[in-house]
Amino acid sequence: MPATTMEQLVSLCKRRGFIFAGSDIYGGLQGTYDYGPLGVELKNNIKQAWWRANVYERDDMEGLDAAILMNRLVWKYSGHEETFVDPMVDCRQCQSRWRADHVKNGKCEKCGSTNLTEPRPFNMMFKTAVGPVADGDSFAYLRPETAQGIFVNFKNVVDATSRRLPFGIAQIGKAFRNEITPRNFVFRVREFEQMEIEYFVRPGEDEAWHARWVEDRLHWWTTLGLSRDNLKLYHVPADELAHYSKATVDIFYKYPIGWEEIEGIANRTDYDLGSHSRGQADLGLTAKVSPNTDSTAKLTIPDPETQKPIVPYVIEPSAGVDRGVLALLCEAYEEEIKPNGEKRTVLRLKPSIAPIKAAVVPLKRNAPEIVDACKSLKRALQSTGEMRVVYEDTGNIGKAYSRHDEVGTPYCLTVDFQTLEDKTVTVRDRDTMTQIRLPMDEAYDYIRKGITETFARE
Ligand code: GAP
Repeated sequence: MPATTMEQLVSLCKRRGFIFAGSDIYGGLQGTYDYGPLGVELKNNIKQAWWRANVYERDDMEGLDAAILMNRLVWKYSGHEETFVDPMVDCRQCQSRWRADHVKNGKCEKCGSTNLTEPRPFNMMFKTAVGPVADGDSFAYLRPETAQGIFVNFKNVVDATSRRLPFGIAQIGKAFRNEITPRNFVFRVREFEQMEIEYFVRPGEDEAWHARWVEDRLHWWTTLGLSRDNLKLYHVPADELAHYSKATVDIFYKYPIGWEEIEGIANRTDYDLGSHSRGQADLGLTAKVSPNTDSTAKLTIPDPETQKPIVPYVIEPSAGVDRGVLALLCEAYEEEIKPNGEKRTVLRLKPSIAPIKAAVVPLKRNAPEIVDACKSLKRALQSTGEMRVVYEDTGNIGKAYSRHDEVGTPYCLTVDFQTLEDKTVTVRDRDTMTQIRLPMDEAYDYIRKGITETFARE
């Protein structure tokens, strides 16, 4: 059974080094978390799986890594300066602040008072000074979504790659939101990572592409290990849609806190490229797209049929890395009783995303020949740079196994005295706890087979 409380995960994450509270030694900074030795591996594996499925395994996608700081005009024309707001209320009794839609029964969560102000809009973008002179104009926003970096590079990518519709641009990166009430561990934080695709299509073909992307993205989460029963689709009602969206379907995961969004797939129409084209016109930056047309919009691409320049529509699958980490940890977490009656905690992560692929364990850590054999086995296993392998001698064999069960390591390889004679090792499987004996030089292929996965839809 997956984790039933957030506390189980918070405790495991801290104890084993997946996720720590940010700035912990100074009392923390609300809404920030640091990924520890295992967390960074898990997060990187998720991001790599996403990149592989969406960039490498497709023929219609390019990658991008845009700057976090952008010209302020980007956020003016994207609509975020005006509309990227959450409703906020103040408690008149204890002066605390809450997101209006998070307040239950009209009561302050801290002191219980019902003496709250009327909701008023609060813009969630962080501001920072740019350059040494801090006058009113020399500031920039930390991006609240990675998407705009893609829109402002649309023409650059088209010119550099000669892409034609339909095609997409994929990007993974940090986003920042001054959430009024960050909560639920890494679920709602002020600094997080997004994996976003802007997929450009012909207007009129947008709805079919939207439906297709919803299915693709749902499928991908299941290939990573989330059970279909714990995922559902939420068709966002019109009055809840973001300012840029014609239709949005959210993928919800059944977290211990209830069903919540892990990814949103929006039909952003030509809203963003249209707005930035208008921005360019306002500033006198537009030029004729081609001598054969009278179009003045710069952010266009030829229509595949008419060859006339058009502003394409956009389908946007936008997933949160941190919410993905949390969901995958929930799903994988299991407490069970072993046949010998002992309790064990096991993280049944798919081997492809497990932080550590194999632990090499010496039967005796003070036997130099065994230690040497372990070290050379570890070097051989990680020689291609494909997998994180560790040498594990922090306790006895039993402790090593439970430690690695708890962090999801799919294989433990034990080197013993027989290894020195016949060059074989035992390989213990995390899920079944069974052991087999293998020639050392077959261990790499054995593990590699176990961790290889295909992430794209057939
Ligand atoms: N570009 C579209 C966009 O940003 P969004 O629904 O606001 O859409 C997309 O965000 C995803 O980013 C969400 O589904 C969620 O996984 C993640 N996300 C958003 N705000 C977050 C926060 N405060 N903490 C953690 N993840 C967040």
